[in-house]
Amino acid sequence: MAKVLLRVENLKKYFPAKGGLFYTEKGILAKASVIHAVDDVSFNLFENENLGIVGESGCGKSTLAATILLLYKPTFGKIYFYDKEITQLSSEELRRLRPKLQMVFQDPYSSLNPRMRVKDIVAEPLSLIEKNKYNVTQKVREIIVKVGLREEHLERYPHELSAGQRQRVAIARSIITNPKLVILDEPTSALDVSTQAQILNLLKDLQKEYGMNYISISHNISVVSYMSDRIAVMYLGKIVEIGKTEDLIIRPKHPYTKILMGSIPLPDPKRRDYMMEVIGETPSPVNIPTGCRFHPRCPYAKEICKVSEPNLREIEDRLVACHLVEEIEKS
Ligand SMILES: Nc1ncnc2c1ncn2[C@@H]1O[C@H](COP(=O)(O)OP(=O)(O)OP(=O)(O)O)[C@@H](O)[C@H]1O
Ligand code: SF4
Ligand SMILES: [Mg+2]
Repeated sequence: MAKVLLRVENLKKYFPAKGGLFYTEKGILAKASVIHAVDDVSFNLFENENLGIVGESGCGKSTLAATILLLYKPTFGKIYFYDKEITQLSSEELRRLRPKLQMVFQDPYSSLNPRMRVKDIVAEPLSLIEKNKYNVTQKVREIIVKVGLREEHLERYPHELSAGQRQRVAIARSIITNPKLVILDEPTSALDVSTQAQILNLLKDLQKEYGMNYISISHNISVVSYMSDRIAVMYLGKIVEIGKTEDLIIRPKHPYTKILMGSIPLPDPKRRDYMMEVIGETPSPVNIPTGCRFHPRCPYAKEICKVSEPNLREIEDRLVACHLVEEIEKS
């Protein structure tokens, strides 16, 4: 059986809400205290597996990614990397772990230092662990070609590159340390359609060569399904369904996933960017609805949904957090 590479247990990340007031479901004015950006997330990522995370804007995808990589301190919960808990590491242990866990951000322009040349941007993470400058330079030269650029690009600054080239630089920087896990947070959403497809194919080719695992995050289901073996659907800080990509796309079980999937034709990253259209407005992560947090928007909601929060439970080939799945399946 495949080893578990990453185990996330009951992870929460709350932010203090600044001075806001809001109306509760009963119309009472209350003081906002906490943003529940990630609210009790658990999952395993197996070796040689790619996971996708999908959900609307503001559901907590980027916060989850940053918390997994310990760029944010978790409010609660544990993260294990190959059975070793990494949530309580010392700064020295964390420094040694960092090269194994990398991230590619949505907007390469803001994630690359504009005052550094490409060669220094790409070399930086490796320089922290490899003190031999010659080895670093050689590796930078090798990797820049692997991501589809040329050695002449090494002397340029980010503003002298196209958006696609900048994303290639960001990818080179993220893989130069031979990571085991790379989190791709909306890696193509700032790119035009043909560049998107090139970057996704590049990521797949690099994976074949270097063998890292990806967690791909997007609000675009086609991107996530193209890149992932399994998909987790997030809603207001929680995973509401997680299962194999094909099963989840063809036979979604959670009402929210059904709505997401119903709004798109067959996934194909080479075609247009399918945006998700969901009924009603997304509630705020400050003012979380009682019971099932999806109930104000759910077409199947019943009384129980307003008072009792459903946990993820095993239903056939996947995990689903909904009280009424069986009933909905029969209807
Ligand atoms: N550093 C922060 N301080 C306070 N609130 C934050 C912070 N980062 C994120 N949030 C809030 O947490 C919630 C989740 O945000 P997050 O960026 O994780 O969502 P997302 O799913 O990545 O959205 P998008 O698809 O737009 O990137 C949002 O309400 C956001 O405003
Ligand atoms: S628990 Fe109820 S409100 Fe929540 S998704 Fe299921 S049917 Fe809808
Ligand atoms: Mg985000």
